[in-house]
Amino acid sequence: MADNYLEKRYEATLGSQKPKVKRVGPTLDDLLLRARSCRGYNQNYVVKRAELERIVAACGKIGSAKNQQLLRFRLVTRGPEADMLNANIKLGAMLPEPHLPLPGTEPQAFIVVCAVADANRWIDIDLGMALQTIMLKTAEMGLNSIIIGAFNRAEVRRGLNLELEPQMVVAVGKGIEHYAIDTISPDESHAYYRRDGIHHIPKIGVADLIID
Ligand SMILES: Cc1cc2nc3c(=O)[nH]c(=O)nc-3n(C[C@H](O)[C@H](O)[C@H](O)COP(=O)(O)O)c2cc1C
Repeated sequence: MADNYLEKRYEATLGSQKPKVKRVGPTLDDLLLRARSCRGYNQNYVVKRAELERIVAACGKIGSAKNQQLLRFRLVTRGPEADMLNANIKLGAMLPEPHLPLPGTEPQAFIVVCAVADANRWIDIDLGMALQTIMLKTAEMGLNSIIIGAFNRAEVRRGLNLELEPQMVVAVGKGIEHYAIDTISPDESHAYYRRDGIHHIPKIGVADLIID
């Protein structure tokens, strides 16, 4: 439990005789559900550089094709660089409503993932693994994030003085959005949509994911 309720109760009733209680964290399924793509953030929560470093540290523990580890991570916290990134990303292009994020809900922290070598199949696979790791780690930390492929590469590279080509941008922060996952069949619309303040994400059901 988040506030160590069980540990405190054992201590109160059993004192020093308390059995060892292992703190149980969220399951992988919990984290996967929480790790929704977030397009609106609470700007009162300021993401610290140390938090971004913890997220990147998780990326240092994952697999990599031939263990080459060709990805590098540029951290951006609140300030002019974050403003520049907000001006050069596109969120929620599939939604009919006004441009997202809504004013006052823009992300203020980012991880820009770069590659040491020109993109190829193996780097792309490493990239996908790193991006999902970032999403899961932010969820574990009680934060939210979104992978952003629709960004102005030239402007982002110039604005951050990057020697390496930026491959993908990830926004990180404290999300303010609400989500629902709708199970669909493969022939139904895959387009996400918003209704009554809820962001709906259609996902193909497991029975249709498995092939004979
Ligand atoms: C490789 C990749 C690139 C993406 N690029 C964008 C993007 O540029 N803008 C955006 O709003 N969402 C982007 N997304 C988020 C997807 O739209 C999102 O994953 C999808 O709608 C399903 O929602 P979910 O992540 O909550 O399951 C991207 C996701 C991935 C994996």
